[in-house]
Amino acid sequence: MTASSMEDLVSLCKRRGFIYQTNELYGGLQGLYDYGPLGVELKNNLKDAWWSSMVYERDDVEGLDSSILTHPNVLKYSGHEETFTDPLVDCKDCKSRWRSDHIEDQKCPSCESSNLTEPRPFNLMFKTNVGPVDDGTSFAYLRPETAQQIFTNFKNVIDSTSRVLPFGIAQIGKAFRNEITPRNFIFRVREFEQMELEFFVEPGEDEHWHDKWVQKRVDWWVDQGVEKESMEMIDVPKDDLSHYSKKTVDIMYKFPHGVEELEGIANRTDFDIGSHTRHQKEYDIKSNVKENNDSVTKLAIQNKITNKWTIPYVIEPSAGVDRGVLAILNEAYRVEKLENGKERTVLTLKPHLSPIKAAVIPLKRNNEELVSKALELKKSLQKLKLGRVLLDNSGNIGKSYRRHDEIGTPMCITIDFQSLEDDTVTIRDRDTMEQERLSISEVSNYFQNSFL
Ligand code: GAP
Repeated sequence: MTASSMEDLVSLCKRRGFIYQTNELYGGLQGLYDYGPLGVELKNNLKDAWWSSMVYERDDVEGLDSSILTHPNVLKYSGHEETFTDPLVDCKDCKSRWRSDHIEDQKCPSCESSNLTEPRPFNLMFKTNVGPVDDGTSFAYLRPETAQQIFTNFKNVIDSTSRVLPFGIAQIGKAFRNEITPRNFIFRVREFEQMELEFFVEPGEDEHWHDKWVQKRVDWWVDQGVEKESMEMIDVPKDDLSHYSKKTVDIMYKFPHGVEELEGIANRTDFDIGSHTRHQKEYDIKSNVKENNDSVTKLAIQNKITNKWTIPYVIEPSAGVDRGVLAILNEAYRVEKLENGKERTVLTLKPHLSPIKAAVIPLKRNNEELVSKALELKKSLQKLKLGRVLLDNSGNIGKSYRRHDEIGTPMCITIDFQSLEDDTVTIRDRDTMEQERLSISEVSNYFQNSFL
């Protein structure tokens, strides 16, 4: 079971502090959202899981954190200035603007008029002025994908790490797109985060690596709690491929509003590295930089045995963090009927993703002895560095359980009067609601084992 509608998720996110609309105080800004106290934890946990799997658990990937503001030439020669567009139409009657491939029957979704302009390309990149003079010449783009900064750092990374093919560079960070019609909560927004790997391989080995990465990425989403049955893989039709791609497989997910892209795995060939190499060479000639062997092979890698220089092919698994958060919330959302006829809402998040890993609850609020024992236990669990452990001193155990079910806390540990006498506590499991009594000395192990 998943959420029955996007409204269920939006309402839970606002009520419990996962996600708020940006600047709601002033009417909000369309297509922009803020992550609240629980949202930031969930999002960071998802990014940590990606980084662990892509960087720490492999020995062939390096990390990077590059700037968001990007030199215009990078996005000119990557093809984004020319081709990173969506088709825009205007309604001549009500003056609203739409993405033509998102409207049905070529009718204005606002006033239903068919009096629309012909579609024209609208570039999605945001521009901003750099420096104190705003004369239109000194501008930079806010990157529309994190990938280009990986390509422009390719040579820096191989020079400083002596990597050989195949190897990858991973990056997590913000990307910006001036979407014509942002919609469906955090699914299509104007500022979002991407988790991208550019994996560099020998030309000729690209198809083998592409298949491998598709499988690996599907398995990773399953490990995050996304059911295999909720995803489907599609081969993007040739006409819909991005300008740089030879082949792209999209991992589609059953979002509450429909089946849409969660992650794309593209075979970018040598399109970007090749283009930056050619234009870098032109730049050197124009700027009178002395020709040397290196400049001919600027973004190439040398085989240490054959001495041959290669411009590698690139396989790129690129996932949206925000779409990931939405999919994971949707997968975890349940409304269960209880034996007493009541209902409970529960988020069955995987423990490594839960915003709060455990809540330690003194049975009676402000009872000094109970609170002090609870605080001691919270501190000892917090020291294990498995994520946030909360001292929940709200004093109403039933309400606390309901709240922690709804935000996905895997276990609640209650300190009661018996705890003061025999050093035992009650542990309640979120999913089964079963409770067991354990000695405090066993809690650390129990807690750690819940992440295995
Ligand atoms: N570097 C390749 C690239 O950017 P993409 O398919 O345009 O490819 C990759 O984007 C991922 O970024 C998508 O699969 C999606 O998860 C996320 N994404 C793209 N546009 C988005 C938007 N407007 N809002 C939220 N996420 C977005």
